[in-house]
Amino acid sequence: MHSRTIHILNGPNLNLLGKREPEIYGRDTLEDVARTCAALAVELGLETALYQSNHEGEIVEMIHRAREAAAGIIINPAAYTHTSVAILDALNAFEGPVLEVHISNVHKRESFRHHSYVSLRAEGVIAGFGVQGYELALRRMAVLLG
Ligand code: DQA
Repeated sequence: MHSRTIHILNGPNLNLLGKREPEIYGRDTLEDVARTCAALAVELGLETALYQSNHEGEIVEMIHRAREAAAGIIINPAAYTHTSVAILDALNAFEGPVLEVHISNVHKRESFRHHSYVSLRAEGVIAGFGVQGYELALRRMAVLLG
C-alpha cells in the first residue's frame, strides 16, 4: 500500500465534465480537477491519481486496485451512487478512508438522488461545492491520514 497516494475515482458521464449540463456541473473539466488536485496534493504531502469509467464493473476493479495502491479513496460514483450495491461492497473491502464527493447539491435535486449506497461506507460526504469539493475532500483526507 502506498501510504500517501490517494485515488480519485469518477463514475459515468464525468468524462463529459465541463461540457455536460454546465449550469449544474460547471465548466471545469475532469482534467482540470486532476491538475488542481495533483498540485494541492504536493502541498499536503500526498500524491493523487484520478480515474474515470462509465462502467460499473470497471469502477469495482478500480477499487480493488486501490486496495494495493492507495491509502485513501475519494469517489464521485455519479449515477451509480444511487444504484450500486457492487460499488458499496467493493468499498467495504477497502481498508483506508473513503470520502464521497458530488459536484452538485444532490439534496436539492430529484428525490432519487437523495439516497446514496456509498454513504453507508464513506467517512464523509461533500455535495454542492462544485468541483472545489474534490479539493476539500483532499484536505480532509490529509487530516484523516495524519
Ligand atoms: C453527481 C450527482 C449524481 O446524482 C449524478 O448522477 C452525477 C453527478 C454529482 O457530482 O453531482 O452524474 O454525482
